[in-house]
Amino acid sequence: MLEVVNVSKRFGGLVAVDDVSFQVNKHEVFGLIGPNGSGKTTMMNLISGAHKTTSGDIYFQERLISGMPPRGIFLRGVARTFQLVKPLSGLTPAESVMAGVVFSRNPLWGREAEKAAQRMLTRVGLAGRGHEPLSSLTYIDQKRVELARALISDPQLLLLDEWLAGLNATELLEGIDLIKSISAEGTTIVLVEHLMDAIRSLCQTCVVMNVGKVIASGETDSVLSIPEVIDAYLGDASDV
Ligand SMILES: Nc1ncnc2c1ncn2[C@@H]1O[C@H](COP(=O)(O)OP(=O)(O)OP(=O)(O)O)[C@@H](O)[C@H]1O
Ligand SMILES: [Mg+2]
Repeated sequence: MLEVVNVSKRFGGLVAVDDVSFQVNKHEVFGLIGPNGSGKTTMMNLISGAHKTTSGDIYFQERLISGMPPRGIFLRGVARTFQLVKPLSGLTPAESVMAGVVFSRNPLWGREAEKAAQRMLTRVGLAGRGHEPLSSLTYIDQKRVELARALISDPQLLLLDEWLAGLNATELLEGIDLIKSISAEGTTIVLVEHLMDAIRSLCQTCVVMNVGKVIASGETDSVLSIPEVIDAYLGDASDV
């Protein structure tokens, strides 16, 4: 479904992503983990086309997507949420979600788009909230709107950058179930997450980044028991 081949991204003197390669299989929930600043969000930005690669190639369904504009990548079936939400200011939650389908590869219009948006809002836990001002929603609820906006485009690949971060214990369990149900419908998911319990329960395989490089990859349970991976996380925790 997705193949990242020797990808690097340089910001001036900083190499945020350094010769990274991995592949994601169809229908997989794939974990992308690593301490703060290790290059995870940059990698998501490279896949979605928000950033251009400095070198290396990214293939989606065997077609080269690195170098394409974000809209072209979205139209091929890649949707995303943002680590820091990017609300569409001035629109209601329902209108924000409709924007995800009106501009998608299978567009709906008018009443159809509105009905689909209400269905998606219900699915992410915002039933009946579609016409409140977006600014009156909590940060977490704005993240729900963003997920609905991504889902309504019926993506084949969904990129979730710390979507579960900040949920309380009950919401977290609901959030994990929601991601499982999205996966069960056949959507392939790349999940950036710091919550190890979520990674363990959702991801069959994962890749671990540290300072831009891949330090481990493979089956989640075995990857998370590698001493270098544990060190990378403990090093990060002791920095805080
Ligand atoms: N647009 C940019 N311009 C310059 N430097 C950037 C830019 N985006 C990211 N970086 C730098 O690249 C490195 C990797 O950042 P990135 O946001 O990808 O990390 P991350 O793994 O997502 O971290 P976190 O877990 O804190 O979200 C950091 O040193 C960051 O400061
Ligand atoms: Mg990040």
